[in-house]
Amino acid sequence: MTVYTASTTAPVNIATLKYWGKRDKSLNLPTNSSISVTLSQNDLRTLTSVATSESFTEDKLWLNGKQESINSPRTKACLDDLKKLRVELEEKNSSLPKLSQWGLHIVSENNFPTAAGLASSAAGFAALVVAISKLYKLPQDMSEISKIARKGSGSACRSLFGGYVAWDMGVKENGEDSKAIEVAPINHWPNMKAAILVVSDDKKDTPSTSGMQTTVATSDLFQWRIKEVVPKRYEEMKQSILDKDFAKFGDLTMKDSNSFHSVCLDSSPPIFYLNDTSKKIIKLIHALNEQEGKIIAAYTFDAGPNAVVYYEEENESKVLGLLYKFFNKVTGWDKIDSSKLITDTDIVTDPEIYKGVSRIILTKVGDGPQDTEESLVNDQGLPK
Ligand code: DP6
Repeated sequence: MTVYTASTTAPVNIATLKYWGKRDKSLNLPTNSSISVTLSQNDLRTLTSVATSESFTEDKLWLNGKQESINSPRTKACLDDLKKLRVELEEKNSSLPKLSQWGLHIVSENNFPTAAGLASSAAGFAALVVAISKLYKLPQDMSEISKIARKGSGSACRSLFGGYVAWDMGVKENGEDSKAIEVAPINHWPNMKAAILVVSDDKKDTPSTSGMQTTVATSDLFQWRIKEVVPKRYEEMKQSILDKDFAKFGDLTMKDSNSFHSVCLDSSPPIFYLNDTSKKIIKLIHALNEQEGKIIAAYTFDAGPNAVVYYEEENESKVLGLLYKFFNKVTGWDKIDSSKLITDTDIVTDPEIYKGVSRIILTKVGDGPQDTEESLVNDQGLPK
């Protein structure tokens, strides 16, 4: 019996203009457009292999070595859409094997520990959707496929491209125009780097899905954000990327992170994602930019206390120098020659700030989903 397989890798993306709020929960349509930077898969990626065969009677999913339920409505929505597109192909060409009728085995692994505290749902859904679209030999382009990934997790649609990516919110009720588009490829601005400070926190964060529902339902400030702030910022940020204007890009990135956390605080009950360590990191970056007389580093925080600091490679000695000075006891510095960093600065912070950070991940802008020779399934279509 023939077993058909396909594999792909997909990246993590970190928004610089945040998606927060849905106008349609089941189609996962956002209340505003967003922008992100795709991060290098050398450091953070999901590898997904899929297999199908006439003998597979049901869809099955294995995540990081453990079989999981495939019945979440979001995963089902993605599989239904992909199968529908395959049916279209099979109806046009009756010689094609009827893959759409067979069970799917999906095996997925991250190259970073879940304990790193990084949301992996974006890379996960992007990899799942791309792997199956390859298996099914779908002719749709990445923007079209991103609409399916969007139904898995909104931010996942942006992981279908490398470099600098926008999620255009669209206006249609059926979501047909709510998709990811490339703002600029990696080569346009290849020297963008990112330092992720994984901030330790005991408390369980409010999941983004329910957090944004609370904000939409209760925050007045949120109305101002989506109507007045984001539409203008969306255009300005896209332009700053096209101009490779870091000072502008960094300013907008920090402002948008703070705007997003403000609408969280303005929700009822309020949602807190930043902790004391996050706030000290915010102050450190502002102090650095102040010292330099221009913005050379920009922080952004998602639905948790982890900081992502963007900077350009030419400022690495200064930006990482400052971080090294205060976080050198934290793991993650192995690929850096610390003697090249500028660590003498007058900037001060809590000398024990490093205790709030469990590791640092040094990475940079990266490519979109990639074909791979690696496979997580054997020739029976089961996890290796
Ligand atoms: C703060 O994409 O995780 O990271 O669509 O409900 O799955 P769902 O939400 P999700 O939300 C991400 C929110 C964010 C901002 C962003 O990535 O744009």
